[in-house]
Amino acid sequence: MNVVIFGLGYVGSAAAGCIASQGHTIIGVDVSDAKVAALNSGRAPVYEPGLDELIAAAHADGRIKAVTRVSDELDNCDIAIVCVGTPSGVDGAHDMSFIAQVTREIAAALKPDRASPLTLVYRSTMRPGSCENIIWPIIESHLGAEAEKTVELVYNPEFLREASAIEDFFHPPKIVIGTLGGKPSANMAKLNEGINAPVFEVGLREAEITKFVDNSWHAVKVAFANEIGRVCQNLGISASEVHAIFKSDTKLNLSAYYTRPGGPFGGSCLPKDVRALQYIAADTGSATHLVDALIRSNEAHKHHQFLHATQGLEAGARVLLVGLAFKLETDDLRESPAVDMARKLLEAGYDVDIYDPKVAPSSLVGQNLGYAYSVLPRIDDLMVTQQTAESREYARIIATNRLIDTLAIDRTKLVDTSAIA
Ligand SMILES: NC(=O)c1ccc[n+]([C@@H]2O[C@H](COP(=O)([O-])OP(=O)(O)OC[C@H]3O[C@@H](n4cnc5c(N)ncnc54)[C@H](O)[C@@H]3O)[C@@H](O)[C@H]2O)c1
Repeated sequence: MNVVIFGLGYVGSAAAGCIASQGHTIIGVDVSDAKVAALNSGRAPVYEPGLDELIAAAHADGRIKAVTRVSDELDNCDIAIVCVGTPSGVDGAHDMSFIAQVTREIAAALKPDRASPLTLVYRSTMRPGSCENIIWPIIESHLGAEAEKTVELVYNPEFLREASAIEDFFHPPKIVIGTLGGKPSANMAKLNEGINAPVFEVGLREAEITKFVDNSWHAVKVAFANEIGRVCQNLGISASEVHAIFKSDTKLNLSAYYTRPGGPFGGSCLPKDVRALQYIAADTGSATHLVDALIRSNEAHKHHQFLHATQGLEAGARVLLVGLAFKLETDDLRESPAVDMARKLLEAGYDVDIYDPKVAPSSLVGQNLGYAYSVLPRIDDLMVTQQTAESREYARIIATNRLIDTLAIDRTKLVDTSAIA
């Protein structure tokens, strides 16, 4: 295929060398004369191990060249890949001016009488909604009604890391292809031929947010590791031994466990032990800002779930809350997020029934008993049997866990707070 790459920085240059090595023909475009000159003399425009060799080989084959401005070159191209920079703007959001500029140049150079649409792929990291709200309007303003026939718009995030960019390009952790409506793209399939990785064909926004999620998660991991490292150092504990124990647990620690958006955390251990770690950190001057934010983040999520579950619900409406314990198959109510949900529903004036067959107020003892009655003093009157739950008319049914699957109820009234779809 003929591929044009806009932006010959770290991402664009690596893409140029790697895609050329797969046998495709490359035209690189960059506003920098120096980068264009480097590529045209068979050298990589940036330093990346192994890249000079790939570009020299493609240059020797006559399959790579560069220009500072694109015009008729686009006519014979199958794919255009945009890798221009999206640096931080003054307000912290991405500065989208390079994206807007390069999109205008592409739209102006595109001719509507193409034999097949140009697959226009954005690899730069940008805010979800950018393809639909910035890029497509620019294309449409140049091509009008011909836009859809002329351009297949794709967002394809790049997962390479500098210094191992070539290895990462050919062995990515995943391939994410975002299109309008999540439709597969034949040209993207051709471009990714021979690359073995799970493929996700999704909508543009799901693809656009991928890098934010990944990079923020990586930042969370580094910050968390360093907070634990500080606490250990201040307590004279071997951080490296603690790390060895931590990372050995691929069942609960380094796994997909606890990563699905849904219910807040709760129960007798997590909130208590997070607060205790906060205390130790403050006591030792370890300044654990990330750990300190966990309880507040969780409380914010509980309130978000309450607002989501009661959206559009009339004051005084009858509500069934399904699941009161902090998880299935326990009667432990201590710091159960469902207890907070019940309290918020009551405080807002709803007529609340609660169904949880494992929770019998008369059997609660000790701290569990004290906690339940201090937060829900009317708990005895609120609990209902399965028969009542299934027979009463409710304006809304709020599920906090999979207990809902055991009830024969009208699901049109259901809000499931245990999962965010
Ligand atoms: N560097 C990485 O490891 C990495 C990894 C994944 C994703 N990304 C994302 O990819 C994008 C590019 O990153 P980078 O590190 O390669 O940036 P970079 O700053 O190294 O390169 C961007 C290039 O775009 C060129 N450019 C600007 N306007 C142009 C225009 N109108 N026409 C042609 N060229 C133009 C610049 O001259 C520059 O050479 C960013 O959005 C970044 O967040 C980077």
